[in-house]
Amino acid sequence: YKRDRIRNISIIAHIDHGKTTLVDRFLDITDTVDRRNKKDQFMDSMDIERERGITIKSKPVKLNYLADDGITYEINIIDTPGHVDFNYEVSRSLAACEGAILLVDASQGVEAQTVGNTYLAIENDLELIPVLNKIDIPNANIEETLAEIVDLIGYSPEDCLQASAKTGQGVKEILEAVVKRVSPPSGMLEAPLKALIFDAIYDKYRGVVIHVRIFEGSVKAGDRIQMMASGEIFEVVEVGYFLPQMEITDSLDAGEVGYIIAVIKDVSSAKIGDTVTSANNPTDTALPGYKEAKPMVYAGMFPGMPEYYDELRKALDKFKLNDASLVFEPENSPALGFGFRVGFLGLLHMDVVRERLEREFEIACILTAPNVVYRVTLQNGEVAEITNPASFPEPGEFLRVEEPFVDLSIITPSEYMGNLIGFITSEKRGDFKAVENAGKNRVVLRFEAPLSEIMFDFFDRMKAISRGYASMDYEILGYRESDLVKVTILVNKETVDSLSFIVHVDKEYSVAKKVVDKLSELIPQHQFQIPIQAKSRGRIIARSDIKALRKDVLAKCYGGDVTRKMKLLEKQKEGKKRMREIGQVTIPQNAFLAILRIG
Ligand code: GTP
Repeated sequence: YKRDRIRNISIIAHIDHGKTTLVDRFLDITDTVDRRNKKDQFMDSMDIERERGITIKSKPVKLNYLADDGITYEINIIDTPGHVDFNYEVSRSLAACEGAILLVDASQGVEAQTVGNTYLAIENDLELIPVLNKIDIPNANIEETLAEIVDLIGYSPEDCLQASAKTGQGVKEILEAVVKRVSPPSGMLEAPLKALIFDAIYDKYRGVVIHVRIFEGSVKAGDRIQMMASGEIFEVVEVGYFLPQMEITDSLDAGEVGYIIAVIKDVSSAKIGDTVTSANNPTDTALPGYKEAKPMVYAGMFPGMPEYYDELRKALDKFKLNDASLVFEPENSPALGFGFRVGFLGLLHMDVVRERLEREFEIACILTAPNVVYRVTLQNGEVAEITNPASFPEPGEFLRVEEPFVDLSIITPSEYMGNLIGFITSEKRGDFKAVENAGKNRVVLRFEAPLSEIMFDFFDRMKAISRGYASMDYEILGYRESDLVKVTILVNKETVDSLSFIVHVDKEYSVAKKVVDKLSELIPQHQFQIPIQAKSRGRIIARSDIKALRKDVLAKCYGGDVTRKMKLLEKQKEGKKRMREIGQVTIPQNAFLAILRIG
């Protein structure tokens, strides 16, 4: 039976440890991609991914590998995203596999996210194949890195492979290990269909393409399928494999990885983690572990000019077709007018969305500082989720406020341990929990801390303190009570709701002072003096003034015929400037993010 020749694996690696390069070598060895069409780094196809060198979406690929035993195996590689914002996708991708390559850069060693994902793989009972990559680098620390891997998973050093994804050395041996060590999928072909959705993308021409791992049964064109979470039913138009381009096939059978195209308009009908079954012959139980990916941060998004509200709405609608984790609803800000409150998985997700809106839809928008979701218990006992600081209740209006906390782990050379603990406990409201050894001269530090503190101005500080060596990972613990207050900002005596923020009472004064100082740097001088004030609990708690300009400055004016092209140019220019008139004061885009750079 062909199932015995299938191997489904994923690759666990920290950013830059060489996952994409390794998959490219696999493609070469198995002649999977026609070399003439081959671009460098085939797997990362989105521009932003390439520029930032991070993988955001999981893309599967099927290799036909002729092994030393003379048999051709079907190896499916399910790529996992390498950022904590997308942890949910990582865990779904791992659930679709029987094995995982644990890829570690021998010049960097094991890093925090590698550890987190390795534990996820162990929880999913995956067979791990540890591989030391980049052994061609002259100063690779092979011995030390080996010791770290042994520490992490308890294997003997002989079980670790050594390779260079760059030169190709040791790469074939990895595929041999996959064939020999990873077990083929189990699951009955005759049983009712049971398939895991580990991704879904929107294709302009074909609609939603669902990426699935079939656990039981099979699926072919003409079948009626049902999504178990929503109950929605669709008719299958086509099924196929990823080579990595889509290649049609007759049926996808138990154990296989591939795609299903049905007439689905919206990716939110095909939720990552959901189980697909047959509508006519449904399975009794869904695959375990489905939970909806919930946005963790919210920010306001406003069109550069009010006329572009509709365009922004259309762009967000289109965007959502391909990214079910994005949520948004209309927001009306007294200062910024009509816009949207948008929910993201994390800050990287936010950056990616903003950048793609600009590049693909040519939309320039004003983005306000992001915040986490607060949970407020009002006087009448009602619990409200607050996604916008502007709607945070005044003291006296609520009984209790809670914010999300995380389990934070940091791996660092021991010499930076003291400074990191100091930074996190004294500046970031973190609670130091434990320290463990992680190989020679390296430790894992564990903290509990508010999510808001580690999201803003954290990563760069951690890197600076550790000279770039520390790496971090976190997991949401849940909501806990905190003593939080809302600070509002007044520019020229007018409240600018979009500049409000929530802060812990202990930091109320210091953060308010830093924010008004920063704003007075970022807002340009005008012909009159502009007071910038911070107000909390009914009192002004900080103030900074922008001095008046001395001489008159001629306002720039545009005249003459405005052709379509000119209009577009102008629109782009406006977008670039992204200023906002509030009262009589012009506030630039970066002022709305001022709080982000303040701890
Ligand atoms: P993400 O997509 O961000 O997770 O990164 P990645 O793990 O896919 O890393 P990628 O393959 O993009 O490699 C990162 C860098 O390391 C690139 O500049 C590669 O050329 C380089 N690299 C990868 N493998 C090797 C290797 O074996 N030896 C050397 N010297 N460089 C390598």
